[in-house]
Amino acid sequence: MKILGIETSCDETAAAVVEDGARILSNQIASQQEIHARYGGIVPEVASRQHVLAIIPIIKRAMVEARVTWSALNGIAVTMGPGLSGSLLVGVNVAKALALTHRLPLIGINHLEGHIYANWLTDHNPDSAPHFPLICLIVSGGHSDLVLMKGHGNYVVLGRTRDDAAGEAFDKAARILGLGYPGGPAIEQAARTGTASIQLPRAWLKGTSDFSFSGVKTALLRLVEKGMVSHKADAAASFQEAVVDVLVTKTVAAVKEHRVKQVLLAGGVAANKLLRQRLVKESPLPVLVPESVLCTDNAAMIAACGYYQLQAGKIDSLDLDVVPSLKLT
Ligand code: KG4
Ligand code: ZN
Repeated sequence: MKILGIETSCDETAAAVVEDGARILSNQIASQQEIHARYGGIVPEVASRQHVLAIIPIIKRAMVEARVTWSALNGIAVTMGPGLSGSLLVGVNVAKALALTHRLPLIGINHLEGHIYANWLTDHNPDSAPHFPLICLIVSGGHSDLVLMKGHGNYVVLGRTRDDAAGEAFDKAARILGLGYPGGPAIEQAARTGTASIQLPRAWLKGTSDFSFSGVKTALLRLVEKGMVSHKADAAASFQEAVVDVLVTKTVAAVKEHRVKQVLLAGGVAANKLLRQRLVKESPLPVLVPESVLCTDNAAMIAACGYYQLQAGKIDSLDLDVVPSLKLT
């Protein structure tokens, strides 16, 4: 089965064709990061206009790269939320038009679920596909969710962030340190030449699997305001260490509490090397992490998720609408 995936929830216009939810036949991404970097963050109106410009060429490229015709496709999966409404609308409307024209099933996808399914993009290697039940840490620009997944489409949210998402915290810390946008890769890069020598607070929220990252961000801001940060690299390394420390410790605690077989990492922040290394090192169970390019926003993960939804008979009508504040459950 071949699914065309379409993703326009934030600042990446992406299209991909995936076979049987596992093998990537094409994966095209047009990033708007350079445009938004001028403003130090995403400007929603600019984002939707860029999606309008990029979406048709990107879909064409994905079809050409995959060497498939429209009649060889089995469905079109598109992100319907969460995300910026104007951006989501571009993808959903194009997907609807294509589904109608080519008489293909339309499958609306939750972007967060898509991130999880990046772990199924294993190029048909059954040994490396995830096994249920499992615990997944989804860390992106808008979300930090710790989820117990018992089967396809079966989620129990164990904890989520009470304020800033992990990616958002990285972005804000980078802005505080004047390191540019997007913040996660900028902090990671700066941290390479620094040491985690600055004491920053960790919000443990004991007895829960919830997260909070606004305290560590504010602590960093106060230090900068007081002129106490002389080496940006040390501040970046200390901040990265504080966020990763909490993410890893709380994920490992959840893994010990639930009878699961594996741990999955997903979302843009999962591209962070320290997070990947520390979770692999400290988890008592095997950890699966998608390759970095599949952690940040892409359409292959949306197509993979669409495959499993189509298998379960979850097809949407042409009334499908965007849900900017869509939750996992
Ligand atoms: O999943 P994603 O591409 O988009 C959303 O769904 O939000 O995640 C983007 C977030 C941004 O906040 C970005 O700063 C962060 O992921 N990020 C990283 C890294 N690469 C991207 N954070 C830490 N380390 C990285 N290497
Ligand atoms: Zn995302």
